[in-house]
Amino acid sequence: MATTNAPAPAALGPVPFRDLCGVRPVSDVTTRSADNKLWLQRYQGTWVLESWVPGIMAIQRSFVPRRGDVVLGSPPKCGTTWLKALAFANMSRAAYPPAHPEHPLLRLNPHDCVPFMELLFATGTRKESKMNALPSPRLMNTHMQHSILPASVTTDQNLDCKIVYICREPKDMLVSLWHYTRRALPDVSSFLDVFEPACEGKCLCGPIWDHVLGYWNASKASPEKVLFLRYEDLLSDPVENVRKLARFVGQPFSVSEEEAGVLMDIVRLCSFDKLKNLEVNSADPSSDFANDWYFRKGEVGDWANHMTPDMARRLDAIVEEKLSGSGLSFL
Ligand code: A3P
Repeated sequence: MATTNAPAPAALGPVPFRDLCGVRPVSDVTTRSADNKLWLQRYQGTWVLESWVPGIMAIQRSFVPRRGDVVLGSPPKCGTTWLKALAFANMSRAAYPPAHPEHPLLRLNPHDCVPFMELLFATGTRKESKMNALPSPRLMNTHMQHSILPASVTTDQNLDCKIVYICREPKDMLVSLWHYTRRALPDVSSFLDVFEPACEGKCLCGPIWDHVLGYWNASKASPEKVLFLRYEDLLSDPVENVRKLARFVGQPFSVSEEEAGVLMDIVRLCSFDKLKNLEVNSADPSSDFANDWYFRKGEVGDWANHMTPDMARRLDAIVEEKLSGSGLSFL
């Protein structure tokens, strides 16, 4: 499918999806089946939630990228929420100065600002058309592996639509995924329920190594098209990584912006402590889902509290063997 030839509308976006469309474009890995299990389904070589398949098929069939689109890619629990906040704050900074007391991220969860494609497209044309209503440049996210993205998004020649990817050290990602899913699914009680299948490749959006390798290889082949970020790098040097992100999406910080501290304002606004402590992101005892689920510890190395050294060595060995020769390593 081709990119639209129409000239890009004047840059007005991104705007918070919820403000424009009035609905929550939830990023939900908690969809339950009738027997309260997380149903994973094999789809074109990847493991996805059964409930996402209609959306993935609709994306493959009908998503038409527009000039300026930025797709945020990630496996679940690798910093998607953070990347959504950073990319949104970055790309909308002319309309919404990051230090402004009424910035959208102070009243909306990042998932309300940036739509999750699989669920949005699963709901049929009514919501798909809301995507079309978004002003350019549009910002959206997906957990799809690179191999199943539509060619209209991945083709190297199409620099109109860029991809920013974030991944995370797989052991920490699995621990985060376990904490998240067991809040939603009472029958996921032991970490082994997540760990054992993941070692075989069966994990939400997995195999993990395929997810990471797909975007890694694409970023090597076409660095102008795919920016590859790591959660740990973002934690250790948020300023440089936000600068890189801004440059990549074609909105580098000017000297005057740097001097005025705009970059630092974005880093502060999107920091774990700032977002976690906002009222909009706090726990809601009256609901079986609340925004606080997206903010747990935000640290590196929590795997050590859940895995034995043998388990860690086993998963490390599997991942490194799968990544060997790629130039990518998590050790
Ligand atoms: P932990 O469970 O290890 O704490 P995702 O957004 O892809 O669902 O990823 C969630 C993980 O990112 C969680 O990790 C969460 O705490 C962490 N996270 C969320 N917002 C963050 C932020 N602003 N800075 C750093 N980490 C963040």
